[in-house]
Amino acid sequence: MRGIIDRGRRAVLCAALLALADPIARGAELPEAPEQAWVAQYCTKCHESAWIALAGGTEAGWTARIRRMVRRGAIIPAERVAPLARYLAKALPARVRADQLANSPISVTVSAAESRPLQVWLRSSGRAGAIAGRLAATVSEEQAALLRVGQRVRAFQLRSRASMYQGRVEAANGRRLEVSLRSTGAPGEDYLLEILVDLGPHLSVPNEAVIEEGDRQIVYLREASGDVVPRTIRTGRRGELYVEVVEGLRAGDQVVTFGSFFIDAEFRMKGLADM
Ligand code: HEC
Repeated sequence: MRGIIDRGRRAVLCAALLALADPIARGAELPEAPEQAWVAQYCTKCHESAWIALAGGTEAGWTARIRRMVRRGAIIPAERVAPLARYLAKALPARVRADQLANSPISVTVSAAESRPLQVWLRSSGRAGAIAGRLAATVSEEQAALLRVGQRVRAFQLRSRASMYQGRVEAANGRRLEVSLRSTGAPGEDYLLEILVDLGPHLSVPNEAVIEEGDRQIVYLREASGDVVPRTIRTGRRGELYVEVVEGLRAGDQVVTFGSFFIDAEFRMKGLADM
């Protein structure tokens, strides 16, 4: 869903997002902690703490911002940057407020993290044998553990890739696999095989909810208040439609599916997300 939005439309939407991302008074006092005094000591030389409280960010986002402040002339002991960022991320998290979203041109769709049957396609190659409609393949040990007689197979002739043949796993003995197709080309012909494996129920979210950022994955979580906040998660196996969530979400959590790309763009432009 993310890839299909053309640049022009994206630019218009991002401009709209910037407009709605004007600082909002949170009225939030910074919570009491040693770091509160550091903010007063290091930051209020150049701007008031009330003004700082208008900003929000993740820990890495605050780290980047504090480093930028140092480049602007702030004098902050290096060993205090990390605890300060941790404190500010907790006190002033990255957040798109519900009313900002309601007044924005972006329609956000959410989907629950829940336990769903996870389906993946295993890929291998196979060769047509002497018997018409039969292919033989050798798979990896890891794949072999997931293969069962009766699983659905799609086969594409390597030579042309033009047509797809449907079939089933006929026999699975260790790493050796036999597949029956409704029809095949000549014996000796090579095929790309895709075998549909049902991994059983796993806590998962739709693939389009997850934004890849280097080696990290982020989803945008909609809280009960309607506010949207970024959340780092760890994903497991990626299925056709859903991806397993290993860490970072619980069943019932609402994540943004359509619109997550735009919210991400907004966070990035504000320097809220980790960069
Ligand atoms: C030497 C002056 C100086 C000090 C000290 C300073 N800042 Fe800034 N700050 C700036 C300037 C200049 C800007 C505007 C330019 C920019 O954003 O880089 C700014 C912008 C900001 C912004 C708004 C832009 C954004 O990133 O959203 C925030 C928030 C902020 N500072 C927080 C802090 C915090 C927190 C500290 C203390 C750890 C701090 N500043 C210390 C000079 C300073």
